[in-house]
Amino acid sequence: MRTQVAIIGAGPSGLLLSQLLHKAGVDCVVFERRSPEYVLSRIRAGVLEQGTVDMLEQAGVSERMRKEGLPHDGFTMAVGDTRLRIDLNGLTSGKNVMVYGQTEVTKDLMDAHEARSAQVIYEAENVTPHDFETDHPRVTYEKDGVSHEITCDFICGCDGYHGVSRTSVPKAAITEFEKVYPFGWLGILSYVKPVDHELIYANHPNGFALASMRSETLSRYYIQVPAGTDVNKWSDDAIWDELKIRLGAQAAANMETGPTIEKSIAPLRSFVSEPLRFGRMFLAGDAAHIVPPTGAKGLNLAASDIHYLSNGLIEFYGEKSSAGVDHYSQKALSRIWKAERFSWWMTSILHQFPDLGAFNARIQQSEMDYLASSHAAQVSLAENYVGLPF
Ligand code: FAD
Ligand code: DHB
Repeated sequence: MRTQVAIIGAGPSGLLLSQLLHKAGVDCVVFERRSPEYVLSRIRAGVLEQGTVDMLEQAGVSERMRKEGLPHDGFTMAVGDTRLRIDLNGLTSGKNVMVYGQTEVTKDLMDAHEARSAQVIYEAENVTPHDFETDHPRVTYEKDGVSHEITCDFICGCDGYHGVSRTSVPKAAITEFEKVYPFGWLGILSYVKPVDHELIYANHPNGFALASMRSETLSRYYIQVPAGTDVNKWSDDAIWDELKIRLGAQAAANMETGPTIEKSIAPLRSFVSEPLRFGRMFLAGDAAHIVPPTGAKGLNLAASDIHYLSNGLIEFYGEKSSAGVDHYSQKALSRIWKAERFSWWMTSILHQFPDLGAFNARIQQSEMDYLASSHAAQVSLAENYVGLPF
């Protein structure tokens, strides 16, 4: 078998890349180790930047998002006694974000692939990139017990943090930067009315809490829990009680509670690997970087990587120029580090740190007081939240 671009991983990065390449007439095959049902069962991000929305439009998969997504033009931050609405729209001259779940984005991309009978090989085992330092890279895998090999021009590692692409690169060729936080987010989904029409991020002495949503009848909530917490130790009632405490009296009074349909804990980590190109293999999305979820940058950063990478590959085939692929790593990393900074900063003001100390606790409060009193500080927060330009 032969293709132009072999893509490892059918998460949002891999499927979006495949869709954009297909639209430009570039041939590709996607290899995914899980089943489509499993990929869709992972409940993750919920907030799309304008740039991500535009890319889904460009990829021809925006119809349902336009109908069912919820445009948001602000959100609330509550730290200590300070409660502040960030007017995203007013502070960024008219930009906003779209609340539309990662599951829905992935489903729309899967449906588009199915409609054009695209080559996505699910439940592919032992997918392995080879010879990417040469001009003849190839990918091997097994399907239903049979071994296969595909030769290609390029390999794109879109296989997430635990994928095989990054770990196939010799250690000496890659530099990794990492910060692990001593807590995680316990997230729930429940068919109840959202507590507010906008998101609320809160830092309470008991820890962080976030009130988010997927629709007008489906709510998504998170609470900070210590690293290593067993999710089964938290009953639904205990989670609702804690949300009421952390989100404050006003939210508690409006909060509808009910059974949870999903409950899981995600650890918090900042991580970047450099560079993003190794000969004829590229890394994109979570395969190359992780942000803590505060600020909702993970999925959006995957989309901006794919913007640079797809343009580079389309230019390579269309204009016979390697300029775009040559600059991919540098361009993407410049935006990645800015999103890492923003996510780290949002995390640092909105969480309770076990070793914070009196000095840092005052700094945390004064960050919030400054934000509340400074238009310039709010503009900076808003331009990062809606997404820096590609
Ligand atoms: P992934 O979504 O991880 O997709 C990678 C794909 O590659 C997967 O389908 C995987 O099965 C496949 N794969 C892995 N290894 C192999 C292999 N060896 N062979 C073949 N296929 C392979 N971001 C936010 O903005 N807000 C959130 O609330 C949020 N919550 C999150 C919760 C969790 C538990 C996690 C893990 C992430 C969360 N994120 C969140 C981050 C966001 O979901 C990711 O940034 C986004 O999924 C990145 O997309 P991706 O396609 O790069 O990687
Ligand atoms: C959601 C997740 C986030 O990380 C965030 O900052 C906002 C919303 C969500 O899942 O809805």
